[in-house]
Amino acid sequence: MAIATTLIFFLVILSASLHLHTNTVQAQQRRQSNITLGSTLTPTTNSSWLSVSGLYAFGFYPEGNGYAVGVFLAGILEKTVVWTANRDNAPVPSNATLVLTSDGRLVLQQPQSQDTDITDLTQPASYASMLDSGNFVLYNYVHNIIWQSFDHPTDTILPGQILLAGHELFSRASETNYSTGIFRLSMQQDGHLVQYPVSAPSYTAPYSYWASGTNMYGDNCSLHLDGDGHLYMLNATGTTNIKNLSDAEPTKEEKIYRMTIDVDGIFRVYSLRRTLDPKEKWSIWWNSSFDKCDPKGLCGLNGFCISNDTEAECRCLPGFVSVDPSSWAFGCVRNFIAESCKIRNGDSNTKYYKMSPLENTIWEDDSYSVLQLSSRKECEDACLQDCNCEAALFKDQQCKKQRLPLRFGRRLLSDSNVALIKVGESFSPNTEGVPTRSDNPPKKPKKELRLDILIIGVSLLVFSLMMLAISGILMHRNHVWAYKKISAERNAKLGEEAALRTFTFAELEQVTNGFNQELGRGAFGTVFKGFISDNQKDVAVKRLEKVLTEGEQEFQTEIRVIGRTHHRNLVRLIGYCLEGPNRLLVYEYMSNGSLADFLFTPENENRTDWDERIGIALDIARGILYLHEECEPQIIHCDIKPQNILIGGHACAKISDFGLAKLLKPNQTKTFTVIRGTRGYVAPEWHRKLPVTVKVDVYSFGVMLLEIICCRKCLELSFSEEEAVLEEWVYDCFQTKELGKLVGNEDVEMRKLERMVKVGLWCIQDEPSLRPSMKKVLLMLEGTVDIPIPPCPTSFLSAI
Ligand SMILES: *[C@@H]1O[C@H](CO)[C@@H](O)[C@H](O)[C@H]1NC(C)=O
Ligand SMILES: *[C@@H]1O[C@H](CO)[C@@H](O)[C@H](O)[C@H]1NC(C)=O
Ligand SMILES: *[C@@H]1O[C@H](CO)[C@@H](O)[C@H](O)[C@H]1NC(C)=O
Ligand SMILES: *[C@@H]1O[C@H](CO)[C@@H](O)[C@H](O)[C@H]1NC(C)=O
Ligand SMILES: *[C@@H]1O[C@H](CO)[C@@H](O)[C@H](O)[C@H]1NC(C)=O
Ligand SMILES: *[C@@H]1O[C@H](CO)[C@@H](O)[C@H](O)[C@H]1NC(C)=O
Ligand SMILES: *[C@@H]1O[C@H](CO)[C@@H](O)[C@H](O)[C@H]1NC(C)=O
Ligand SMILES: *[C@@H]1O[C@H](CO)[C@@H](O)[C@H](O)[C@H]1NC(C)=O
Ligand SMILES: *[C@@H]1O[C@H](CO)[C@@H](O)[C@H](O)[C@H]1NC(C)=O
Repeated sequence: MAIATTLIFFLVILSASLHLHTNTVQAQQRRQSNITLGSTLTPTTNSSWLSVSGLYAFGFYPEGNGYAVGVFLAGILEKTVVWTANRDNAPVPSNATLVLTSDGRLVLQQPQSQDTDITDLTQPASYASMLDSGNFVLYNYVHNIIWQSFDHPTDTILPGQILLAGHELFSRASETNYSTGIFRLSMQQDGHLVQYPVSAPSYTAPYSYWASGTNMYGDNCSLHLDGDGHLYMLNATGTTNIKNLSDAEPTKEEKIYRMTIDVDGIFRVYSLRRTLDPKEKWSIWWNSSFDKCDPKGLCGLNGFCISNDTEAECRCLPGFVSVDPSSWAFGCVRNFIAESCKIRNGDSNTKYYKMSPLENTIWEDDSYSVLQLSSRKECEDACLQDCNCEAALFKDQQCKKQRLPLRFGRRLLSDSNVALIKVGESFSPNTEGVPTRSDNPPKKPKKELRLDILIIGVSLLVFSLMMLAISGILMHRNHVWAYKKISAERNAKLGEEAALRTFTFAELEQVTNGFNQELGRGAFGTVFKGFISDNQKDVAVKRLEKVLTEGEQEFQTEIRVIGRTHHRNLVRLIGYCLEGPNRLLVYEYMSNGSLADFLFTPENENRTDWDERIGIALDIARGILYLHEECEPQIIHCDIKPQNILIGGHACAKISDFGLAKLLKPNQTKTFTVIRGTRGYVAPEWHRKLPVTVKVDVYSFGVMLLEIICCRKCLELSFSEEEAVLEEWVYDCFQTKELGKLVGNEDVEMRKLERMVKVGLWCIQDEPSLRPSMKKVLLMLEGTVDIPIPPCPTSFLSAI
């Protein structure tokens, strides 16, 4: 027995030393401590330079579908990346080469593209070295260090590496994506070591989620990690220990350490035993935070965090869905298109919204109004009555009204705070028309009538359901099927009838009183006012002049497509006339003229109401979104401009002339640019003979949005040279941060103004693919998503 044990022991030792031996031999072959000029690496062969001990390597490692360059632990099985070069650049393909060039630069070369510098050198390097500490170093000819990876940490510091004042670590985007993520650890100049979400600025205590509490030690404090896992801070002299974060680990084993700010925003000291056991894993020696919900913004905008003892879980606000369930950083968006909220004369919109509560949760307090109210119910009502209010936080008799997005949400075990979120009572998209549509003066009777219809409808529904149930019980299956079929047929018929009405030319002559009251003249023809006596309705009759569609059948098909569109932000087509050469369209009449009158008429007193203008922009965006995404076939408007936006009651904006572009044949593109003559709004691809997509509407919308913001036309030749072209002027003001100039002395909220301007600038990008979709535009306008800084709109054109 003893012999057997000894034998086994001996064998184990032998195999271990054998293993060790082969390891050393392999390493020696590739080991290269001083890297000379002219050395190269490629991702597939000779992919890295090892340190003398073989523990660290500098070179290519796989990321995504390609390779990134950095420093990683090569001497262990778990290949841990501790530094990444140009971390936000896309991974490179396998035909890339890393070269320490003969003129002393370290560059990444790719076929058919420019070299990328790995380092920012001020003098040429003479040689490089991968040190055993994990530091990759470049030297000049007198052996001075001119660059080292330790000075440019990404998300990790190693023993001996110092995080100096003014430097930061950034978490990575995900476990496998080494790009900059959403959290940072900042060694501030004031001696404070603080953690923030990337989106928040430094030195702003309300946004921090962890702090060392060392701000009384003044300038130039630094963070250090020792080879025994001791993480601590020193003051400026570099001699006095001002704070111990982790203790030194009392251990006899050989261990390696690293400190990393992890994807989840918590920074931890990790240790790993240096054994030959392939199952060896990093273990946590110390962590900055115990609660995984501490990092602010973990669940993105409109999301909130729930933690139990071990894990954190993200959820969305009621009425919201996650943008990308695999990455919560993108947050949540509404799962319904919000009806635009319009309240006049105390008329409440409680019918369309309700408040959904979320107990024991806290959020960033970004309230625009704080009310002293005694009950939660009052707070709910206050928010429902206020179009700007999208959520309210109620605590200690305080009702804090907030707009979206809500940030930094988390659930606490117990807290008297209640978040109240405004959600649509009905998410159904065909509630349009019911709520605020009241373009006709006799408003009250109509509402009562609608209520009657509703009551009758509900009774009928209940009745038929009962009938169905009874028949289900009493009758044979076939009978039920028959019943269903009949009702389906009836619905189809009703739909047909409710759709378009055909008029004779004589009828329309009578309706318009002999075409005597002209409302306007557009690209497609002339519009006349009319009055249909049988239902006492004002209408607008458009007499088309330049229709090139020959066939009646085709015309009818197009008209039916237009007739099928129903949205509160589209002007409703009531009927048409098709008689010989005459083509006329009959639309609902909009009493308040066009957006052009609204914006550009100086004597129009109402025009400067900022909130109303924002409401109009949202209305138009919703209308276009419907045309682009909900119509089958999709409708590209092709002529979005203020003259084609009509204003109904309650400043509800409606798009007109949609679908007409299709009536122009045969060469849509050419014909169109000739016809319109309204330059300013035309997307550049019209002139470049590129295919016309929905993005042309996005462009025109962008130009119009800037006009809505500034209340002026896109081209004003009477203005000074720098102000004459609106797009250029807006971009100039945006760059110089002088947005106030755009709205003159109007009192607007700067944050909102900036958001609107940014959306506008994104929409008018010359390059169609850079323009956002209408869906994105709407989310950005509503403030549900963050808006990146837009590039110069014409930068694409000037680049080619
Ligand atoms: C690397 O080069 C330096 C300077 O020439 C030299 O002092 C050092 O010994 C070299 N290291 C190795 C491992 O060859
Ligand atoms: C790898 O590098 C070694 C030494 O620098 C060299 O001898 C060998 O040819 C290289 N292999 C390839 C495939 O380039
Ligand atoms: C890595 O994350 C960045 C930032 O979130 C993203 O832009 C990039 O596409 C991601 N890369 C890969 C390969 O997934
Ligand atoms: C390099 O690889 C990329 C991606 O695999 C490929 O598109 C490109 O054509 C390659 N270039 C050359 C010169 O082989
Ligand atoms: C902090 O460092 C900067 C730059 O190294 C130096 O100019 C400054 O005097 C230092 N401050 C203190 C208090 O040591
Ligand atoms: C560092 O701390 C020591 C002891 O508290 C103090 O004597 C010294 O002045 C401090 N150095 C600086 C630059 O604040
Ligand atoms: C930190 O720990 C070291 C021992 O590891 C001790 O000498 C030092 O005083 C401690 N510093 C503070 C600020 O507690
Ligand atoms: C993380 O740190 C907390 C104290 O901040 C400690 O209670 C907890 O045990 C630590 N967790 C791990 C896994 O080290
Ligand atoms: C914590 O939540 C995770 C996932 O939500 C679950 O797997 C785990 O069992 C939970 N732990 C406790 C202690 O409840």
